[in-house]
Amino acid sequence: MKINKSGAKFSAIVKIGEDLREESRKTGKEFLYLNRGINRVVNIDLSKIVKNIDFNSDALQYYPHSKGMVPLRKAINNEFFAGKASEENIYVTSGGMNALSLVFQTIEIETFYTNSFYWGAYSNALKIAGKNQFFYNDFDDLKTNFKKYDNGTVIICDPNNPTGSKTDDNQLFEILDLFSKQNTAVIWDGPYRRLFYDNTDNLYQKLLTYDNVIITESFSKSIGLSGQRIGFMHCKNQVFNEEFAVRLLYSGNGINAFAQILVEKILSTPEGKKAAEDFKTKTVADITENIKLLKNKKLLVEEFYGNKTPVGIFVIVNKSFNELKEKNIGSVPLNYFTKRKDIDVENYSRICVSVPKNDFRLFFEKF
Ligand SMILES: Cc1ncc(COP(=O)(O)O)c(C=O)c1O
Repeated sequence: MKINKSGAKFSAIVKIGEDLREESRKTGKEFLYLNRGINRVVNIDLSKIVKNIDFNSDALQYYPHSKGMVPLRKAINNEFFAGKASEENIYVTSGGMNALSLVFQTIEIETFYTNSFYWGAYSNALKIAGKNQFFYNDFDDLKTNFKKYDNGTVIICDPNNPTGSKTDDNQLFEILDLFSKQNTAVIWDGPYRRLFYDNTDNLYQKLLTYDNVIITESFSKSIGLSGQRIGFMHCKNQVFNEEFAVRLLYSGNGINAFAQILVEKILSTPEGKKAAEDFKTKTVADITENIKLLKNKKLLVEEFYGNKTPVGIFVIVNKSFNELKEKNIGSVPLNYFTKRKDIDVENYSRICVSVPKNDFRLFFEKF
C-alpha cells in the first residue's frame, strides 16, 4: 500500500504532556502542567444549561444540517456580529482546527504568511493542504511592507499564541485597510479574544466590511469547551462558501448535534450567558494575577513585552524548559513556535497562565 505522506508531524506538545505525566507517575512528583493550551482556572458550569436540553428530540438525535444548526448560526450571528451578518455565511465546524484546515484547502493561493511566532498546527495543516508557509515579523512589518503580501494569504492571530500579546485594534484595522485594496486574503483566527471580551466587542462587526477576510473561530478557549470540538467559519465570498460547504459536508457529514445545542444554549439563554460570564470573569481574574506575579518576578521576556503587559492565555518566560521542569513546571520550549534566530529561543519557554492563581503562586514562588 502506497501512502500519500504529507510531511506533517504529530503534535510535539502532546508528547511533552505525555512525558511529564509519565515522569510524575514514576517519581510521584506533582507537576503544574503549563504546557497545555486550555483554560483551567475553573470549568464552565453547565449544570443549569443541560437541564434545558431535550435529549429525546429529533434535533439532538438525527443528522444536523451540514452547515450547522440554524438556531446556533443565529446565536453566533447575534453574539459575534450583533445580528448584522448573514447566517448563510456562517458555517459551524468541528472546532477552529477543522475550520482552518478546510479554509487552507479551499483558497487557491499557494503562499500563506503567519506571524514569526505562530501556533505550530498552522504549519502542519498548511503542509497537508500543500501550501507554503512564510513569516511576517510583527504587525509593523505587515503595515510597512504591505506590498510584499500581495497575492498571498495572511493569518492574523490576536491575542497571539504563543506570546499572549494583544495588538491595538486600530493598528490591525489599518493593516486590513491596506490589504483590502490589493489581492491579499486574510484569515482572522483569534480564538483567545472573546475570553477577554463579551458581545459588546464590535470587532467582528467591523470585520464584516472586508470582503477579503475569512474568520475562523472556536468555542474551545472563550467558553472553555475544547472537548466539544466546535467552532465556526464566516466568509462573504459566495464562490469560496460553496466550495467550503462541500468540503465541510464530506469531511464530517455535519457537526455533533449535542455540542451545537449546548453552545446555542450558552450563547442565547439567560442561564447560558450567566455561565459564560462567570467562566470568563473568574478565568481572566486569575490570568491577570498570574501575569502580574511573573512581571514582579521579572520572569517575562523583556524583548517581547518591554513595558507592555501581555493579556494571555499564554506568555513567554525567560526560563528554559529544563529550568522550569526542575521546579516541576511543564512548559513548551519557544523554539516549537518560531524559526527566528535573532532571539534567545533556547532559553525561553511558552507557559499557559490560565490556571488557579494559588497553584501558580505555589510553583512560581520557587523562583
Ligand atoms: C491560534 C489558534 N487557532 C485555533 C485553535 C483551534 O482550536 P480548536 O481546534 O480547539 O477549536 C487554536 C488552539 O489551540 C489556536 O491556538
